[in-house]
Amino acid sequence: MTDRGGFVWGAATAAFQIEGATTADGRGESIWDRFAATDGKVALGDTGDPACEHYYRWRDDLDLMRSLGLQGYRFSISWPRIQPTGRGAANRRGLDFYRGLVEGMLERGIAPLATLYHWDLPQALQDEGGWASRDVVERFTEYAAIVFDELGDLVSDWITHNEPWVTAFLGYAFGSKAPGLRDWPSALRAAHHSLLAHGAAVRAFRERVADGRIGITLDLTVAKPAGPSAEDAAAARRLDGHHNRWFLDPIFRGSYPADTVELYESRVDPFDAVQDGDLELISERIDFLGVNFYRPNLVRSVDDGSVLGLEEVDPDVEHTAMGWPIVPSALTELLERLGRDYGDVPFVITENGAAFDDALDGTDVVEDDRRVAYLRGHIDAVERARELGVDVRGYYVWSLLDNFEWEHGYAKRFGIVFVDFPTQRRIPKRSALWYRDRIAAAGGGG
Ligand code: FCB
Repeated sequence: MTDRGGFVWGAATAAFQIEGATTADGRGESIWDRFAATDGKVALGDTGDPACEHYYRWRDDLDLMRSLGLQGYRFSISWPRIQPTGRGAANRRGLDFYRGLVEGMLERGIAPLATLYHWDLPQALQDEGGWASRDVVERFTEYAAIVFDELGDLVSDWITHNEPWVTAFLGYAFGSKAPGLRDWPSALRAAHHSLLAHGAAVRAFRERVADGRIGITLDLTVAKPAGPSAEDAAAARRLDGHHNRWFLDPIFRGSYPADTVELYESRVDPFDAVQDGDLELISERIDFLGVNFYRPNLVRSVDDGSVLGLEEVDPDVEHTAMGWPIVPSALTELLERLGRDYGDVPFVITENGAAFDDALDGTDVVEDDRRVAYLRGHIDAVERARELGVDVRGYYVWSLLDNFEWEHGYAKRFGIVFVDFPTQRRIPKRSALWYRDRIAAAGGGG
């Protein structure tokens, strides 16, 4: 991350989505290997192999990044490569892979931004309860310390978790992502333990790395009522509490939002995961907040006995291949709100992008005008927020490459570079060339 006034243009990926090589060099099983191997969980039975074979092709991929003029690269470290069973001694070959990768970035003038946890929990820890079990906090802290000791001299910028909302709620309450559970009390514990693990890793970082910055990445939304009724307004407020404030408030204010605690206590269970000292740990000072933004949510209140009591309404706008509405102005709105309510910290857009049905047409460039328009709209929205005084220090497009899009498998393409999976050929999309020119026009760091 740069100092105030500077700006980093980059791209983001995640280990499980691009590396492949899921059994190479002593890597252990992760919850995503198990989930993908379970019938009916991932579209077309796709798995983490071959993904983009980035584990073997990383040098070419770094060259590709350099050719696009990327200044930063956000990648994640696979916990089961470092600790195959989630505890104990480090696996040297796993560490060597990331050391080589980071050195390769630095040689090419690309600043690394490392995420410790992008959803690939060692399966052995899931067998002990995963994020729903408080013991995971100690395990994560041990893992984080190993990685800080190994890479702290090379990597200045760190992210503890990617999107703990997804880890906890899609993983443990809605079941669409690994480990695929449907149990709200477990999800609430998983969310709390993710935050605790975050705080513990921040503390470990301060003890071990003299010169560096650390933050967390949240997936944040703009929750809007579908209609003018007080019920719909309350539904939007419930979604904001559940999705945004449940994470922002403990991190920045050292407390859980009272309205959301009340909602959970009335509809789930007593919220009793919090112990003395937990909120102090969770609210350890961070150096920046990573913001992942894809889409706003329009909701109306429904009385269907569900915990949140709302349903989504589709706004009459263009949608991506994920069915997500495209509303760039919502990103300005979100950043202004963050600046107002959680103020005193720099923000980095650690993911933003879109899936469309891209196809090879035999030429050297894959035409993806809709993605160009999506990126232009959202980058302009970030610029607008900066003009309004919000301290945003970087933008990382999701994603560099088409990759394993979790439960959707390889069918949903988010890359600015097309990957022809049978041959592993990388073909730039128009959006990659547009992004290259946009970065060049910004003139390096502005
Ligand atoms: C985010 C994830 C990322 C990718 C994008 C589309 O929630 O962090 O891995 O799946 O969505």
